[in-house]
Amino acid sequence: MAAQEHHSLAFKSLIIAAFFLFHCVGFISGIVATTELQISQQNRGQWLLLLNNTGVVGMHMALTHRNTVLMFDQTGSGPSAYRLRHRFNGRRCTGSRDDLQDPSCYAHSVEYDISSNTIRPLRLYTDPWCSSGSFLSNGTLLQVGGYGRGSRSIRYFRPCGDRLCDWRQSRGLLTHDRWYASNQLLPDNDRVIVVGGRRAFTYEFVPKRSPHEGAFDLPFLHRTYDRNAGGNNLYPFLHLSSDGNLFIFANRDSILFNPRHNRVVKTYPRIPKVGARNYPSSGSSVILPLDYKNKFQKVEVMVCGGSTLGAFRAANEGRFLKGLSSCGRMVITGNKHKWNMENMPGPRLLNNMLVLPTGHVLIINGAKRGCAGWNNARNASLQPYLYTPHQKLGRRFSVLKATRIPRMYHSSAILLPDGRVLVAGSNPNNRYTFRNVAYPTELRLQAFVPHYMDRQYHHYRPQNVTINYAPGKNYGVKHGEEFGVGFWLDRKPSKDLEFNVYAPPFTTHSISMNQRMLKLRCRTMVTAGGGRINALVEAPPSPDVAPSGYYMLTVVNNGTPSSSQWVRFIDA
Ligand SMILES: *[C@@H]1O[C@H](CO)[C@@H](O)[C@H](O)[C@H]1NC(C)=O
Ligand SMILES: *[C@@H]1O[C@H](CO)[C@@H](O)[C@H](O)[C@H]1NC(C)=O
Ligand SMILES: *[C@@H]1O[C@H](CO)[C@@H](O)[C@H](O)[C@H]1NC(C)=O
Ligand SMILES: *[C@@H]1O[C@H](CO)[C@@H](O)[C@H](O)[C@H]1NC(C)=O
Repeated sequence: MAAQEHHSLAFKSLIIAAFFLFHCVGFISGIVATTELQISQQNRGQWLLLLNNTGVVGMHMALTHRNTVLMFDQTGSGPSAYRLRHRFNGRRCTGSRDDLQDPSCYAHSVEYDISSNTIRPLRLYTDPWCSSGSFLSNGTLLQVGGYGRGSRSIRYFRPCGDRLCDWRQSRGLLTHDRWYASNQLLPDNDRVIVVGGRRAFTYEFVPKRSPHEGAFDLPFLHRTYDRNAGGNNLYPFLHLSSDGNLFIFANRDSILFNPRHNRVVKTYPRIPKVGARNYPSSGSSVILPLDYKNKFQKVEVMVCGGSTLGAFRAANEGRFLKGLSSCGRMVITGNKHKWNMENMPGPRLLNNMLVLPTGHVLIINGAKRGCAGWNNARNASLQPYLYTPHQKLGRRFSVLKATRIPRMYHSSAILLPDGRVLVAGSNPNNRYTFRNVAYPTELRLQAFVPHYMDRQYHHYRPQNVTINYAPGKNYGVKHGEEFGVGFWLDRKPSKDLEFNVYAPPFTTHSISMNQRMLKLRCRTMVTAGGGRINALVEAPPSPDVAPSGYYMLTVVNNGTPSSSQWVRFIDA
């Protein structure tokens, strides 16, 4: 109660103290903007080892708005490194030979609590191996598909504060088997589209729009399928454009698709550079931050890495071809479409692409040779790359500090609210295998700590960020409405002050489903004394631009981000 009152007071003071108003930008000049960021030798980030044993492979990861991370792999991989004392049905797991081999005596999913740096086991009912997921507008994770009996499963995880919540499996099923499919939350009615999968050239919705709706054929998936190369169009890259249409990229091709009318709206040019970008030649993709400055109307996607043609067949013969170094960027809105190509500092595949709170893109994990699949890659890429989208061509990439731990097939990475990047997993073996293989099962959990957390930027860092909902509306902010953001700075805010919101992805197999950043407009700011600042920020205008749900809000001052706070956007 007290907290609510405090918030509503803070909100009112924003409006009353109008005479302290100043514009959100432009009152300090001559500051060196960190968009010109040059990474020096001392400034390439740090690696921290958080845990030696996550119990299960971090093949799939997702950050919940309760500041925990869901991790899971495959129930079919035999005993994991998390042995249960009791089966989920309560029966004790003894040291007998039978019990030591019994899969029900091992967890294959855990919840990691960030603040206590601990894990607890979760119960899976069917195998979620190579599945997909999306957070719904209420913060519940919808997770679908997998292997065997799990290939049509629909599962929910409703995050909780008391650590008693667990997976819930729906009685409903998908229409088709979905193994290696992708998800995107759509703007309307909390509906998720599930696209593709192995031998699934279709898409479908969860929930269905009518009781007897099934799956829909998508000829684009037939067309982009490489029969002799393991597909090269599995786990298609999906990005929601700001007009509500869905960008779908598979292999080398892409379309804009209207999910409301089941219609292809546009076919884009093929990305240059021969090679395949989607599974198993797994490259990666992001939608670059959307910006209020162009009313969120310019939408640009980026695709990086993957493998040359023939990589899959060669890997099966024990030859590991060099991956692709190239990235392509294309504006998917407007009428003129062209891939603008540039090169990463080295070849890369099995890479994750994450949008950092600053709007930079981090390329992390993966390998230099081979492709995705069991034991199909070699030469770990140990150095993350940082990409600065607004720099001049040729000066956008920097090479960051190397880790010593290879993160190969079945690894993942996600952004945490404090600005660190959580890195887990890698298991190119279909069992937990620690000896006599090129790349053993990796259970160590690391955080990559980017340059912006260095002490030298500390005096720029906004502290104690709070979201101040309008009085009586602390369940969320409607699209287009404004909300308060309070924070503290030990000096005047710089010219480059940004309010960025980020939809946390579901990450697996190099793709980060539903990842999305928006740079929001700040209407006004007032100083409240003692370094305290209150800003009025405008929520995204519509669910097309930002589907309803929980977003991480970060205040970025001169390139230095605060820790983020969760803000919920709800349908007007
Ligand atoms: C991990 O194991 C190593 C070697 O046993 C030990 O030195 C280190 O403290 C452990 N780290 C953590 C985070 O548990
Ligand atoms: C969110 O919505 C889903 C789907 O309707 C439902 O299963 C879940 O219980 C809801 N979660 C919360 C926290 O209300
Ligand atoms: C890959 O690793 C092998 C064996 O360690 C090494 O000889 C080779 O130079 C590496 N290739 C690349 C491209 O890094
Ligand atoms: C920020 O919050 C912390 C913990 O709540 C508190 O101890 C500290 O005094 C606050 N700092 C400022 C500058 O408000």
